[in-house]
Amino acid sequence: MANIIGAVTTSHIPAIANAMANKAEDTPYWKPFFDGYPPVRKWLNEKKPDVIVLFYNDHGLEFFIDKKPTFAIGVADEYHNSDEGWGIATIPPVTGESELSWHIANSLVDDGFDMTICQEMKVDHGLTVPLSLMWPGNNYGHVKVIPVCINCEQYPMPQPWRCFELGKAIGKAIESFDSDMTVAIFGTGGLSHQLDGEAAGTLNRKFDLECMDKLVTNPEELTKYSNLDLVKIGGAQTVELNMWIAMRGVLRGKVTELHRNYHAPISNTGAGLLLLEHEMPK
Ligand code: DHB
Ligand code: FE
Repeated sequence: MANIIGAVTTSHIPAIANAMANKAEDTPYWKPFFDGYPPVRKWLNEKKPDVIVLFYNDHGLEFFIDKKPTFAIGVADEYHNSDEGWGIATIPPVTGESELSWHIANSLVDDGFDMTICQEMKVDHGLTVPLSLMWPGNNYGHVKVIPVCINCEQYPMPQPWRCFELGKAIGKAIESFDSDMTVAIFGTGGLSHQLDGEAAGTLNRKFDLECMDKLVTNPEELTKYSNLDLVKIGGAQTVELNMWIAMRGVLRGKVTELHRNYHAPISNTGAGLLLLEHEMPK
């Protein structure tokens, strides 16, 4: 049984990687954001998870609006960045874990989640920025990553409750994998934000903080929202909360918050960070 050791949720905005490349972490704009990360980096460096199952959304690169899987999973041994904005970043490839990926894919389809299974998959900032953030200098090559992509761009999108169920099914799949490897779960994106249109710049700090509380203690409460509720409460791209909700679906038993940070606005978003552990029921 592979062992799920904990979870991290973080913003994934492209400007983060740009700020790191330009060594701007200590500037007044970025400091309150980057100051949140050392405890999470320390946890990752101490716990050394073998695998990260990473929930993110593809912002129109591998999956443009003409073909949009509701849920997709990567089963490759390696993934390459293909991001928009500031040109394609020259960052190292991301290492995959095809055996566990295929195990999860099989289990999910058996459990009624009709995944798009990707033997090749270009990955964007939703996946790479959190890795660069956790392992500065882009030193993430040692950790194996399983990309799980949730449609947050093109209607119809899966609802929060469905993303929570996907997380539960992935947890079950990981636990049924015959291996002693350790797995951490990442949920990226969010929190409240709207990047374009008349309501561009919309944020809802109060809602973001409530979400962070509920993610720890009462995630079922969040599954009562519809995507339209989230758009009205926090702006169009607040649906990226679904990746956090999927992450939380994987955890079982008593969940403990080890660390959090929240800062807004960063690139017009409410940027939240959570580090969680869980105590599996015996
Ligand atoms: C930006 C991009 C994102 O994917 C996101 O979730 C928030 C902000 C941006 O380009 O600033
Ligand atoms: Fe995004």
